[in-house]
Amino acid sequence: MATRLALKFMKQCSTYRKVKLNNNFRHNFCTDASVGTARTPPPPIPKKVPQFSKKGRLFTGAGIGLLIGGGAYASTVDEATFCGWLFNATKLVNPFFAFLDPEVAHRLAVSAAARGWVPIEKRPDPPILELEVWGRRFSNPIGLSAGFDKNAEAVEGLLGLGFGFVEVGSVTPVPQEGNPKPRIFRLRNEGAIINRCGFNSEGIVAVAKRLGAQHGKRKLETTSSSSMNEEEVVQGGKAGPGILGVNLGKNKTSEDAAADYVQGVHTLSQYADYMVINISSPNTPGLRQLQGRKQLKDLVKKVQAARDEMQWGEEGPPPLLVKIAPDLSKQDLEDIAAVALALRVDGLIISNTTIQRPNSVTQNPVSQETGGLSGQPLFTLSTNILKDMYILTKGRIPLIGCGGISSGEDAYKKIRAGATLVQLYTAFAYGGPALIPKIKVELAECLERDGYKSIYEAVGADCR
Ligand SMILES: Cc1cc2nc3c(=O)[nH]c(=O)nc-3n(C[C@H](O)[C@H](O)[C@H](O)COP(=O)(O)O)c2cc1C
Repeated sequence: MATRLALKFMKQCSTYRKVKLNNNFRHNFCTDASVGTARTPPPPIPKKVPQFSKKGRLFTGAGIGLLIGGGAYASTVDEATFCGWLFNATKLVNPFFAFLDPEVAHRLAVSAAARGWVPIEKRPDPPILELEVWGRRFSNPIGLSAGFDKNAEAVEGLLGLGFGFVEVGSVTPVPQEGNPKPRIFRLRNEGAIINRCGFNSEGIVAVAKRLGAQHGKRKLETTSSSSMNEEEVVQGGKAGPGILGVNLGKNKTSEDAAADYVQGVHTLSQYADYMVINISSPNTPGLRQLQGRKQLKDLVKKVQAARDEMQWGEEGPPPLLVKIAPDLSKQDLEDIAAVALALRVDGLIISNTTIQRPNSVTQNPVSQETGGLSGQPLFTLSTNILKDMYILTKGRIPLIGCGGISSGEDAYKKIRAGATLVQLYTAFAYGGPALIPKIKVELAECLERDGYKSIYEAVGADCR
């Protein structure tokens, strides 16, 4: 590009010189003619004479100089520095996204990630962040939570941003539109969002097709990363292919919730590193009632049976997690913990959005909108529930902490409250790709500052 511009500039300069010479010649000739000494006809005058002002030439020259100089300098910096630049450069588009309707902005972001128009993280994750959960290796514990890529359109692009794992969905068995728009509302000053999407989903068949097309690739990548030697792993190595979670929802009109989740497991679990039964969205009537002791027990039993009756290879079936709400009483939490322990649920995600409106948002008129509140005002509520659940389950079940994380310090607090892995959505929607490397670096600093050698050592530190 810079070379093309330079050539164009040089060509334009030579044209300019020729024109100037011709003009001078004409000027001299005419002067002579005027005194009656010339008898030959005048030379042809160029038809179109490009006019360049001095200022224009100066700007073009400076621009090209900058381009060539910048390009030459960029070619001398290492890949990590260049990658850092790219991630930082994405901050420039944040104001543009903020200007758009939230759902349009979201759609654009997913499309960009699906087309690979997002930076790719080439820098290795800090080795202290690496961990293994459910026999799967996570290069870092920071995940993208469900709802961002509902239809698994952009898994590769999102994992490429440097998330340790990405959860797609919620996916419903039958495609459904969700609630009427507008249904996503920003509370920018509070770092929050209210949504009442109501499981807008293209359905399990469309998602299975997409994941099926990508799955072969993921398998290949997994194989090549597992051939990494010990030294590479110790040094942090190149971030692995990443872990994919599939989050299942139920159709609004479905009478048999268990049948919906079973259908989801039958169709999608072969593509997933872990599966999630989401019974905590506040926007599907009756869904949260499935968190009751008896309902949860019946549901989990049926879904586990559906998963276990399928043919699984050496790796075994994907772990099955349950995602719960932050609006639960102590009794509800005890019931869920009892069921999770009794049925050996593989993990819990704590939490989904809240129907409460903490004091920090009530001044904002948007807080009147119906729906689930996410982002910073959810942090304390969801972290307290996480802590309670870690204590109730005696640290025996891996927990994913979610709700209001917007910094490495927040992620660290969730880990100390009992989370082995963490997820975020809202802060990513506001902060964009640059937030991910920032959180990872900050989290590594927090662990090192407090003398931890790994994530495992810090899990539940505040509950002991
Ligand atoms: C617009 C939007 C859509 C969401 N859709 C889903 C969903 O389909 N399934 C789900 O389990 N959670 C969904 N969530 C909840 C998030 O996954 C997450 O649990 C919640 O936002 C709290 O995390 P955060 O504070 O980092 O955003 C959605 C959140 C938002 C903001």
